Amino acid sequence: MHPSLVVAALVLPLALAAPASSRLPGTFVRRQLNDTCGLSAVQQPPSTLTPPDAHNQLVLIALGRGTQNYTCADEASVPASIGAVANLFNASCDVAEATSLGAVSEDANAIGQHFFVDATTPEFDIIGLGNAQVKKVENAAAPQAGNIPWLKLDAKDQSTAVRNVYRLNTKGGVAPTTCAGQAPGSVVQVAYEAQYWVYASPDAMAARRRKRSLGLPLN
Ligand SMILES: *[C@@H]1O[C@H](CO)[C@@H](O)[C@H](O)[C@H]1NC(C)=O
Ligand SMILES: *[C@@H]1O[C@H](CO)[C@@H](O)[C@H](O)[C@H]1NC(C)=O
Ligand SMILES: *[C@@H]1O[C@H](CO)[C@@H](O)[C@H](O)[C@H]1NC(C)=O
Repeated sequence: MHPSLVVAALVLPLALAAPASSRLPGTFVRRQLNDTCGLSAVQQPPSTLTPPDAHNQLVLIALGRGTQNYTCADEASVPASIGAVANLFNASCDVAEATSLGAVSEDANAIGQHFFVDATTPEFDIIGLGNAQVKKVENAAAPQAGNIPWLKLDAKDQSTAVRNVYRLNTKGGVAPTTCAGQAPGSVVQVAYEAQYWVYASPDAMAARRRKRSLGLPLN
């Protein structure tokens, strides 16, 4: 039987939305990829997650906006995670320049996609950084209830320059507590937002730049 689709909380309440940027249109300044808006000085919000290897460099803070998907085997079960789908926006400058680390701009630029290749393998396809598959290595409860956990994700291999991705400052995305009222096999989609802090190997970034300048194929 074809699984029915149950759409829950597809639109985040406006009250949860981040405040609009105070930056005026037309004042946008392009900066160097290797130190976007002074990202080297930006610190993660405090958490119990292990910090990235000091050798790796923060190269992007992406705003992810999409849905966490869960499935219900039957009404007596609890919803099980089957992945997520999100659009990624370049929010590096917004976070670097914001007074609050939680602030993200509505005008952030589209920069890629986040999705799952199977139930446990997240992938990040990011323009300029390649297509990186990652695995979850740590999680930490979000500081405020009602938001999905913060995560440390490590690259599954070294086919791209990306080495770690942290999911931080999450909003929403939490599964319903039970499957009561859900059809067997249904997919429950819950809207969420998160910041994905992307760390890369400077050596691998330099190798990418060399390859690009030679016109060689990049992942
Ligand atoms: C994000 O945007 C800033 C500002 O335009 C830019 O300098 C930076 O290269 C972008 N990041 C990536 C990974 O493209
Ligand atoms: C970062 O960018 C600056 C300005 O273009 C450049 O001088 C510097 O060599 C770059 N550093 C690295 C590690 O690529
Ligand atoms: C998850 O939900 C998205 C819509 O947000 C949908 O496009 C995607 O196919 C769903 N994935 C699964 C595995 O159900």
